[in-house]
Amino acid sequence: MSPDEMKKLAAKAALEHVEPGIIVGMGTGSTVNHFIDLLGTIKSKIEGAVSSSEASTARLKALNIPVYELNAVGEIPLYIDGADESNHYLQLIKGGGGALTREKIIAAASKKFVCIADQSKLVDILGNFPLPVEVIPMARSYVARQIVKLGGEPVYREGFITDNGNQILDTHGLSIMEPAKLEGQINNIPGVVTNGLFAIHPADVLILGSPEGAKTIYP
Ligand code: A5P
Repeated sequence: MSPDEMKKLAAKAALEHVEPGIIVGMGTGSTVNHFIDLLGTIKSKIEGAVSSSEASTARLKALNIPVYELNAVGEIPLYIDGADESNHYLQLIKGGGGALTREKIIAAASKKFVCIADQSKLVDILGNFPLPVEVIPMARSYVARQIVKLGGEPVYREGFITDNGNQILDTHGLSIMEPAKLEGQINNIPGVVTNGLFAIHPADVLILGSPEGAKTIYP
């Protein structure tokens, strides 16, 4: 079974978390794209969505799913998003697609975060996937030097601008033993908008697609 078929299985299993009449927080990426397509088949049962990226917004709108501004809604009951890595505590690395900041905002504004992924994303220790850090452009070199002091090897994602007009440093060479501590340390560097660790607030549920079907994991 291909990784994409596994992503589809996870997306399908996440549909059971969608209660009638709700606004769904939507992440970004290829796994979420499968979920959005499935959401389109039950769109009359929900009120709409809040989106974490221009890409997800375009996909939602193409399916005539109403997209609301986060400032126009209260607490969101459910957030669905993918991940680049998850450990067994459901602490994540996200941001491979560069949408980490808006993803973290909507995840924080949501009651329940259901993460969907193919089984390859589950790891014992986070850090093999380079940790994305969104930076204000003028601070890029300064932030990169501070990340080196923390033991990382930052690589500028050249030619990429986030939906917020910022740049990304992908941080290689980390073996993240204390994810919540590192998340705070990096976020405290002036010029950092946020980093792709979702460790202080991990996911609540992880659904992994596998050749044996979708497996649900709790922390
Ligand atoms: C987007 O910025 C990311 O956080 C994605 O959620 C993550 O990269 C997972 O993407 P896929 O679903 O494409 O694997």
